[in-house]
Amino acid sequence: MKETVVHVKNLKKIYHTRVSKGLFSTEKREVEAVKDISFDIYGEEVVGFIGPNGAGKTTTLKCLSGLLVPTGGEVEVLGFKPEKRKKEFLQKIALVMGQKSQLWWELAPIETFKLNKEIYGISDKEYNEVVNEMVEILDIQEVILKPTRNLSLGERMRCEIVAALLHTPELVFLDEPTIGLDVVSQHNLREFVKVYNQRYKATVLLTSHNMEDVSDLCKRVIVIDHGVVLYDGKISELINGFVKEKHIHFVLKENISPDDFKGLGKLTECSGNEGTLVVSRERVSDVSKELLNLFEVVDLDISEPNLESVIKGIFEGGYKI
Ligand SMILES: Nc1ncnc2c1ncn2[C@@H]1O[C@H](COP(=O)(O)OP(=O)(O)OP(=O)(O)O)[C@@H](O)[C@H]1O
Ligand SMILES: [Mg+2]
Repeated sequence: MKETVVHVKNLKKIYHTRVSKGLFSTEKREVEAVKDISFDIYGEEVVGFIGPNGAGKTTTLKCLSGLLVPTGGEVEVLGFKPEKRKKEFLQKIALVMGQKSQLWWELAPIETFKLNKEIYGISDKEYNEVVNEMVEILDIQEVILKPTRNLSLGERMRCEIVAALLHTPELVFLDEPTIGLDVVSQHNLREFVKVYNQRYKATVLLTSHNMEDVSDLCKRVIVIDHGVVLYDGKISELINGFVKEKHIHFVLKENISPDDFKGLGKLTECSGNEGTLVVSRERVSDVSKELLNLFEVVDLDISEPNLESVIKGIFEGGYKI
């Protein structure tokens, strides 16, 4: 097991806010955004941190990067207490928020890169190496020279990530990095995260509502809701634990008569020469063979349960952890 990079024990965060009450008065209100969250993250892991809107993900990431002071619990990140915001700590981490820009709006991204170079005290040699490498992988040679305000969202996000990772932090918090991006840009960004993780042996904690981000990048996932952890473990085990059945969709040469499928499984869809059988995971190969034996099969498709459907089931209350 690699060394512990993030240690969180019984984290609690209460926001104190005021809400308006009538026209002229306000009332104090407490929001318990994080109730009791504990987990450890180890070196070079890429972990998905998921949960519905308002679950407490961003609040947790802000506590881990030192932007918020926890109300209770223990937080230790790379051996530091994040809230102290020591220079050595800030040099080693980055928080990238898909909904917030750190690039100067009126200037070209390259100018923000240069500013960050000075802020983090990066040598000319290292700066040139890192920028050239990242710009090439992300294919933004031209883009970094245009004013940020003229860039498309996808172009801007690619520049954001370079600006945020120029100092090559060993721990990266990504808060919805692909929000609003088209599928090609999402893919590019994910590929970049993979390269960064391997090239710099970096640890990554990622929040996203896009389950493809999570299933493509992470082996482990931490699921939270209402400020508490619901699941922490392998994605594969989460899926296997919940989904006991698979769907076999088939197309036959002749039209289907539902009676022919008795004993094979539950026929859920059936029209013309197409149908779908729901069978337990263990029986998938037997039932497929049987189908091929009994009928003239034109096409057969076995669909795997995916993370998206499992997570949807959990949050809609269909699955209980
Ligand atoms: N500055 C704040 N003041 C008061 N309440 C806040 C503040 N920031 C967040 N909250 C509340 O804390 C709770 C958790 O918010 P948080 O932003 O951590 O959720 P999230 O899991 O990141 O959600 P999303 O998926 O929508 O980004 C929500 O109820 C939110 O309204
Ligand atoms: Mg959030």
